[in-house]
Amino acid sequence: MTPTITRKVPHFIRALKGDPTKPPPLWYMRQAGRYLPEYREIRQNARSFLDLCYSPALAARITLQPIERFDLDAAILFSDILVIPHALGVSVTFEEGEGPRLTPIRDGQGVMGLKPDHVLERLAPVLETVATCRGQLAGSKALIGFAGAPWTVATYMVEGGSSRDFTEAKSWAYRDPETFSQLIDIISKSTADYLVAQIKAGADAVQIFDSWAGVLPADQFLRWVIEPTRWIVERVRASCPGIPIIGFPRGAGVLYERYVDETAVDCVSLDSMVPLDWAAKALLPRCTLQGNLDPVALLSGGKAMRDSADAILRAFTNGAHVFNLGHGIMQRTPPEHVQELTNFVRAWRP
Ligand code: CP3
Repeated sequence: MTPTITRKVPHFIRALKGDPTKPPPLWYMRQAGRYLPEYREIRQNARSFLDLCYSPALAARITLQPIERFDLDAAILFSDILVIPHALGVSVTFEEGEGPRLTPIRDGQGVMGLKPDHVLERLAPVLETVATCRGQLAGSKALIGFAGAPWTVATYMVEGGSSRDFTEAKSWAYRDPETFSQLIDIISKSTADYLVAQIKAGADAVQIFDSWAGVLPADQFLRWVIEPTRWIVERVRASCPGIPIIGFPRGAGVLYERYVDETAVDCVSLDSMVPLDWAAKALLPRCTLQGNLDPVALLSGGKAMRDSADAILRAFTNGAHVFNLGHGIMQRTPPEHVQELTNFVRAWRP
C-alpha cells in the first residue's frame, strides 16, 4: 500500500462546506491593496497595475502580504476581474485616480470582434501566480481564486469603465437582448474555463464577484445575474466537484434568496445593507454566509467597529459563517484597524 499524504482541510473550506465552528474563519475582500504600505512599495516600481497582475512572482508576493501581516484564514489571488475582457482582446487600462478604461462595445458588431479562442493562453501568467501562491501558502490556509460575474464584467465592457447609472449596458439589454446575451455567453464561457483553470492550478475555492447585480430590476436580475451564474456554477462543478463556490450578488436585497436557490452556490457573500435577522432566517438554513461588516466601520475603527462585528458574529452563531466585509477594504483604512478587527474576531466566543 502506498501511503497517501493528506492535507488537513483548512477551517475556511470546512466553513464553506457547512461546518458551524466558532469563531468563524476570516478574510477580507480587497485584503491586498493600496491601504498596505508593503503593497504600495511594490506598486510604485511597477509599470502599471495590469503589469503587476501578469507578473507571477510579484503578484504572488502581494497575494501573501495580508496573510503574513494578519495571519488570515484565506489568501485571495491578486488579480482583477477585468483580465477577462483584456484576454478577450479589449484594450484595458487603469488610470491613476480614475479607475479602469476600456474600449466600449455597444452592439452585436462589437461582440463579433471579441477573441474568445485564446483566453487561457493569455491568462497563463495569472494561473502561474495561483500555482506559486499555493506552493508558498501553509496547508492550513486556503487560496481563493475569483472572477467577475458576466453581468458585472459586461457593465465595464459596455460602459467603457465604471458607471453611475449603467444606462448603456441596461439599455442594450432591454433594446436587443439577443445580441446582449451573445456578449454574456462569451463572458460566461471564458469565465467558467478560467475558474476551472484556477482550480486546476491550485485554488481551493472560487468567488464570483457580481458587484453591480443590485442595479437590475427583478426580471433582468433573473436573466443576467442568476442565469449566467447558475450556468457557470454547473460547469465548474462538473469539472471540479467538491470545490466550494462563493457568489457575491452585491445589492441583491430579497433576491439573495432566489440567487442562492437557483445558482446553488455553496456560500453567499452579503453586502452591508442586508439585515442580519433576515439573513439568519432566510439564508442561513440554505448555505454558508460570508460578510458583512460595513467597510466604513472598519475605516472608522473603535467601538462602533467592534459592536458591528459582534452583532454579525451573534446573528450567524447557529450556522456556517465566514467573517468578512460587505465590500472591499477602502484605500484610506488604517492597517491597525484591520489588525484590531482580526484580533476581535479571533477572540470572540458565542
Ligand atoms: O485583495 C483582493 O481582493 C484581490 C484582488 C482584487 C482586485 N480587484 C485588486 C485591485 C479583486 C478580487 C478585485 C475585484 C474587482 N475589480 C471587482 C469586484 C469587487 C469590487 O470591488 O466590487 C471590481 C468591480 C474590479 C474592477 C476594478 N479594479 C476597479 C473599478 C478598479 C479601480 C478602483 C480602485 O480601487 O482603484 C480596480 C483596480 C484594482 N483592483 C486595484 C486593486 C488592488 C487598485 C489598482 C492600483 O493599485 O492602482
